[in-house]
Amino acid sequence: MRSETAPAIRLEDYQQPAYRIDTVHLTIRLQPNETEVVCATSVASRDGTDAGAPLILDGDELTLVGIALNGKALDEGAYSVTPERLEIHTPPAEPFELVITTRINPDANTKLMGLYRSSGTYCTQCEAEGFRRITYFLDRPDVLAVYTTRIEASSKDCPILLANGNPVDAGRIENSDRHFSVWHDPHPKPAYLFALVAGDLARVADGYQTMSGKQVDLNIFVEHGNEAMCGWAMDSLKRSMKWDEETFGLEYDLEVFNIVAVSDFNMGAMENKGLNIFNDKYVLADPETATDQDYANIEAVIAHEYFHNWTGNRITCRDWFQLCLKEGLTVFRDQEFTSDMRSRPVKRITDVRLLKSHQFPEDAGPLAHPVRPRAYHEINNFYTATVYEKGAEVVRMLKTVLGAADFKKGLDLYFERHDGNATTIEAFLTCFEDATGTDLAQFALWYEQAGTPVVSVKTRHDPGNRTFTVDLAQEIPPVPGQKNSKPALIPLRFGLVAANGEDMETGAADGIEIANDTMLLEKARQKVVFSDVPSKPVLSLLRGFSAPVRLDQHQSEDELELLAASDRDPFNRWQAVQTLAMQELLRLTQLARSEKPLTPSQSVLDLFGTVLQDAELDPALKALALTLPSEADIAQEIGKDVDPDAIHQARQRLRAEFALTHRSALLKALTDHMPTGTYSPDAQTAGKRALSNRALHYFAVSDAEETAQRVWERFSNADNMTDRISCLTLLVHDGMPKRNEALKAYRLRHENSSLAMDKWFMVQATAPGSDTLKLVRSLKSDALFDETNPNRVRALLQSFATGNPTQFARVDGTGFEFIVESVLEIDKRNPQVASRLLTSFRSWRALESKRCALAESALLKISSCEELSRDSRDIIDRTLQ
Ligand code: BES
Ligand code: ZN
Repeated sequence: MRSETAPAIRLEDYQQPAYRIDTVHLTIRLQPNETEVVCATSVASRDGTDAGAPLILDGDELTLVGIALNGKALDEGAYSVTPERLEIHTPPAEPFELVITTRINPDANTKLMGLYRSSGTYCTQCEAEGFRRITYFLDRPDVLAVYTTRIEASSKDCPILLANGNPVDAGRIENSDRHFSVWHDPHPKPAYLFALVAGDLARVADGYQTMSGKQVDLNIFVEHGNEAMCGWAMDSLKRSMKWDEETFGLEYDLEVFNIVAVSDFNMGAMENKGLNIFNDKYVLADPETATDQDYANIEAVIAHEYFHNWTGNRITCRDWFQLCLKEGLTVFRDQEFTSDMRSRPVKRITDVRLLKSHQFPEDAGPLAHPVRPRAYHEINNFYTATVYEKGAEVVRMLKTVLGAADFKKGLDLYFERHDGNATTIEAFLTCFEDATGTDLAQFALWYEQAGTPVVSVKTRHDPGNRTFTVDLAQEIPPVPGQKNSKPALIPLRFGLVAANGEDMETGAADGIEIANDTMLLEKARQKVVFSDVPSKPVLSLLRGFSAPVRLDQHQSEDELELLAASDRDPFNRWQAVQTLAMQELLRLTQLARSEKPLTPSQSVLDLFGTVLQDAELDPALKALALTLPSEADIAQEIGKDVDPDAIHQARQRLRAEFALTHRSALLKALTDHMPTGTYSPDAQTAGKRALSNRALHYFAVSDAEETAQRVWERFSNADNMTDRISCLTLLVHDGMPKRNEALKAYRLRHENSSLAMDKWFMVQATAPGSDTLKLVRSLKSDALFDETNPNRVRALLQSFATGNPTQFARVDGTGFEFIVESVLEIDKRNPQVASRLLTSFRSWRALESKRCALAESALLKISSCEELSRDSRDIIDRTLQ
């Protein structure tokens, strides 16, 4: 049987640290497999700590070389040490200097946490608990210290030496081929924000003048040869800096801001103070290898990490339960930035799609947890869609509930009151209460309760009384381990749409508080009566997706068509089209399930035709409206007894019928909207490209010979990655005759770009069709597959498990078995990557019984494995619970 699981860490057990660490002087002597770390700290007991209370420092796979207190080596009996823990039994009552020397092996660090090497470059990742893999420390976010870092390394291998803060000294080390540099970061910070980089990197330099006139050096460090791919990231950085000044009055606070791109990185990017480290896919771009989506992602991730300088770094988290304090707020900020840089409605729709496809299923499955969890076994497993995306929604609701002006007041107070603190969600909310006099006790439940509330809606119009009644009710469906959920405060933006498509003016509403077109639902049930409503309106509810809830509302086809055509809220126009498409897909799936003929309804086809030919609609919005709900979305909507094959059939059928019905309009759209001239990643041009490619996506299923030829030509002639990869996807996913030729040509062209080759792996892994699994297995042995590179693992394995519902959940169970095998292999080297991959099973209970049983036995195989990382053990236990 498997080993016992360690007890959970609980929010309610939080205690202040017994000791402070005020300053840290690190000397790091880099060697590939024998790096020496000397960590000199000034330590003092905190008020309230008993005299002589033991000092217990965290470690992880560390080797202690020496330890001295106030300049004297400690006697053996004065401390005890393991690789995971260093205890000094009775430290002095007065402040003291502690010098700890450890030895670590960057080359052997395959977990990519702590100090490791990526393509020869030394780099670090310390969030959440990686600093303890460098030295023994109070590795918790409420211990803030001022760091000075001296790096020593070979001059030849590591001409570039970087750490947090400002550079203060550098030079050669006498009688050696080594050199050093010293960095000082004046801003107290927790250990998770520590970083260093050393290697032979190219530098792209620029500058920025802050609003108070200070000059900041901006640098992006990349592998030699990639300099020309940094322009977009640098431009995004400068726009982020300007935006944060203009929008929130927040200015940068060091003399340099450095970004380093590395190719082996567990996450997307990391906000280390003054030295952000990025997965290179969120830095490098040129039209040849990056899609419009890549450009948009780079802009957003650069902004996100930059914005953390205030929301995360200057004001940090007291403990890891407060993760959403920095992540939810910073995601909200980067979403706002993108909305201002690009199209607000397009951004909103994109974000809601992400929320519904990632966070809603998480909230509905065994891994559900509140935005602020109360317990965890492994904190790395809580960097989730719930903490991030729902966390951002909660901040957005706060703005909706308070109004923009009061929201700003509260946030200003937060920055003023908590600058330099490690703080909590309560303290954050108190700022809004104090600044505005609002009681946010009920609002705070959004942080406490897991599960997506369902808001049910019933309406009736009484022509005699000229009243319009809306019955609202809210409920959170059962969540594992959560009893008696309470009603949340749900802001519902709305309008009453008249037959002419315009919002009606009505009399007062009874039974609910309304401000700024928003109803505030606060009870389990509320009856709202509008007076002076002359004719029957169509209720457009949850405009802009004003709350992360599901609506249970029946609207007729006519009503939805009215909203689709003329709701003044662009989000709800899009939503109405999607709702109609979803209803049709559910009906077709049902038919497929019972092996009946699939005949798509004419009205949905007509609606899609109307959208396609709407001359007013912004191309980007049109492309989104014409995107059918994904197979995963449909599965989620069905909720139980899911048959992925039936869903796939239904969706393909609707796509094909739409293509057939609107062939000429599609052809026109795909040519009319194809941008000409030099490639530009701006939102408008990207929107046109998206529409042109969306049209091609339908067109491609219509008629074999001629269409296949057209796709092939467009693939061959593409002058940018967006067009090339969408054509390649069609060639491969629709099994066109030239699919193999296209894959070969693509590979030849992009062999030397690992980011472009990730796409090559991903396209194949997500192809529907029963031969895909065999192909994916063989790709795992391809010379270009690299199990040590997280991006490559995600491109092949994660995208198979999460982006190929019919083949992952094959009815013979081999898809599950394949992922289980892969998880077990990867878990030995990189637990974080393995446990992420394992979350692809999170909706297994919703599958029809046969697949469900197969998923369970695959999961049990993992569970019975004795040597499982804490990361994967945590996920497997909760998934099977
Ligand atoms: N602080 C995180 C990076 C991180 C995540 C470190 C998990 C350690 C564990 C960073 O700010 C972040 O949130 N990055 C995101 C991208 C962002 C745009 C949402 C990521 O890495 O996915
Ligand atoms: Zn973040």
